[in-house]
Amino acid sequence: MERVPFGIGELDSLIEGGVPRGGLIIVAGNAGVGKTILSAQFIYNGASQYGEKGLYICMSETGEHFKAGMASLGWDFSKLEEKSMVKIVEFPTMAKIGVEDVVSLIVDEARKFKAERVVVDSVSALNMALSRKSEVRAVVNLLARMLKNLGCTTIMVTENPWGSKGIGLGVEEFVSDGIIIMESVVVGNRLDKRLMILKMRGTNHDTRYYRLHVNKGSGIVLDLYPEIR
Ligand SMILES: Nc1ncnc2c1ncn2[C@@H]1O[C@H](COP(=O)(O)OP(=O)(O)OP(=O)(O)O)[C@@H](O)[C@H]1O
Ligand SMILES: [Mg+2]
Repeated sequence: MERVPFGIGELDSLIEGGVPRGGLIIVAGNAGVGKTILSAQFIYNGASQYGEKGLYICMSETGEHFKAGMASLGWDFSKLEEKSMVKIVEFPTMAKIGVEDVVSLIVDEARKFKAERVVVDSVSALNMALSRKSEVRAVVNLLARMLKNLGCTTIMVTENPWGSKGIGLGVEEFVSDGIIIMESVVVGNRLDKRLMILKMRGTNHDTRYYRLHVNKGSGIVLDLYPEIR
């Protein structure tokens, strides 16, 4: 199976070198845990290290805000945009959009740009626009199939409310090829962030918790989490 690496050594080594090419990967986690940073690294490293064009769909913040945040970590997305290696698209804020609008907007951008990597940050934002769970499932399903047809490897970010069980809207997990869980947990008097590979089809993946740090320059850094008793 062909692999698409994050370019984050510790993470790639947990999943046989990368996510399956053409797959749909869900990155699910609590607020502020680092979902955007992880997804941005997938696009940034993809373009700068692997020569793969990346499309980043911003649904929960503006493109400028996203780029400013990434610049503070040392990643110049504007430069990659100028080189046409990355495209950042802000999702229009519409009161009510249909399933077809969401899908065609994203798929059209991916096709026009010839994107090899796509991030949708986040699909939870769709929840506001789409009224029924079945619609979200339809969007996730349709997007996954159409982007796969285009040869894209896709990350969909899902927001998990603090303390909630389950993943996002509860529909994305079954249509995905892989799920990466990111959690914020209180241990004693501090907030710990940790990551686990919950599922990665066709992959003999690691099944342990890893402590997650965010460092300027290197971004997401992982080390094995102490045994929990
Ligand atoms: N320069 C930095 N140095 C160290 N840690 C940072 C830095 N910038 C951000 N962080 C950490 O990264 C977190 C934000 O990461 P990110 O935006 O990826 O989270 P998120 O999961 O996408 O959040 P949200 O749910 O709000 O979208 C901050 O809460 C902070 O802990
Ligand atoms: Mg975010």
